[in-house]
Amino acid sequence: MEYIFGLEFIYLVASVTYIIGLKMLGHPETARRGNLIAAAGMTLAILGTIFLYQGEVPTFIYILIGVAIVIGTIIGWLKAKRVQMTAMPELVSLFNGMGGASAALIGLIEFEHYHGQTLSIVTILGGIIIGSISFSGSMIAYGKLNGTFNKPIRLPKYNLINNVLLLGLFVFAGYIAWTHSESQLFLYLIFFAALAYGILFVVPIGGADMPVVISLLNSFTGLAAALGGFLYGNMVMLTGGILVGSAGTILTFAMCKAMNRPLSNVIFGGFGDKDTTAAEGGSKVTGSIKKATVSDVAILMNYSQKVIIVPGYGLAVAQAQHAIHELEQILESKGVQVKYAIHPVAGRMPGHMNVLLAETNVEYDKLAEMEDVNPEFNSTDVVFVVGANDVVNPAAHNDPSSPIYGMPILDAENAKQIIVNKRTMKPGYAGIDNELFYNQKTSMLFGDAKGVIQELINELKGM
Ligand code: TAP
Repeated sequence: MEYIFGLEFIYLVASVTYIIGLKMLGHPETARRGNLIAAAGMTLAILGTIFLYQGEVPTFIYILIGVAIVIGTIIGWLKAKRVQMTAMPELVSLFNGMGGASAALIGLIEFEHYHGQTLSIVTILGGIIIGSISFSGSMIAYGKLNGTFNKPIRLPKYNLINNVLLLGLFVFAGYIAWTHSESQLFLYLIFFAALAYGILFVVPIGGADMPVVISLLNSFTGLAAALGGFLYGNMVMLTGGILVGSAGTILTFAMCKAMNRPLSNVIFGGFGDKDTTAAEGGSKVTGSIKKATVSDVAILMNYSQKVIIVPGYGLAVAQAQHAIHELEQILESKGVQVKYAIHPVAGRMPGHMNVLLAETNVEYDKLAEMEDVNPEFNSTDVVFVVGANDVVNPAAHNDPSSPIYGMPILDAENAKQIIVNKRTMKPGYAGIDNELFYNQKTSMLFGDAKGVIQELINELKGM
């Protein structure tokens, strides 16, 4: 692309907005504004590219671009407006897939324009392979999250098949670049093989592991876009791609670390699949549990000085976020200090609990991160575990045979009294027993979180 000062300046401004936007996404209070700033930068970059580009572009192409922008904006707007908070990961997956497809399509179109230029052809083939894997993989992840393919499908020796296919893809791409082949047939073979690999890569992975997979595919899309930026010498595409690629990679590894599992275990392990998790290890916990009634718990909380709420996946399932906020406010009005302890992988997507509680306007300074809140459990009268399980499982500290051994957890067991709300004694995501439920200090308050919290509120109001 020829150098145009105004356009380069716009790209610089847009790149800066991405960096500022990304930084602001790191805190719930600034996240919404950060998103808008980055979106404004993206709009500026698109408009600049359309109106300041000085090459020959037929009017018909402008019309096509305009129509595509209008259709894309309407679909994207409506989807994002209507999405339920719980369906957010599938929407991210869908959008991410579109990014991968765009990167792959750029490669398919540009291939014939760069014949004989080895570095550009390598870049194009890289963009096609990575973008296509990201597209088809994201579509499968989308299907898994919305329940279309809720069972992992595992061909015999699927890991071997996948690895051979991936290796074959790169060897074949190397052959095309090395021999300066101009064959469109070869190009489309690479494209379809990469699409097939994306499908085969994601189908064996259990639905519950999809957030990690989506984050990984997101980093692939970023890389594919960055390759497009490199091909065109387009700085904003390069910067955007690198930011998405690195943010996706960091998030992927952060999630794996918080779950105490190497990435290889997510991709090859078949964890998160309900058929296999219960057999994954960990000692069987035996003993008796204590049940509490709603009025026992209401009295206990009413006379406490400090209560810490530990929200988990069940809070999201029950959609009890408004109820828990009301409970918090009632307790505060009675002079009880209340905080939420947020585990980094509580729920099923990054920031799940923050997003859920933000919906109800819980004050951000009431949300305490794991490292900050763990030393406080000792001085807490009551910890109220609502629909959380793995994130408070002491096996992470005590049981070397447990699949979660070594995972950082919330030290709820250190509180003076522990109240656990869930519906049954069934395990959570990791499929293992939780000795916290059998602790002398623990009382189980069975029932759906929303109903139980509502009853607690009613009881407290009468006190
Ligand atoms: P889990 O360990 O999955 O436990 C959730 C508990 O909620 C279950 O034991 C379930 O018990 C209870 N529950 C479900 N519906 C409920 C309802 N309507 N009312 C009350 N309770 C209900 O959740 P967690 O503690 O939040 O831990 C998250 C797990 O997911 C971790 O193992 C983590 O590694 C994994 N994971 C997280 C992510 C991200 S990024 N957050 C991504 C993938 C995997 P009952 O069925 O007996 O009610």
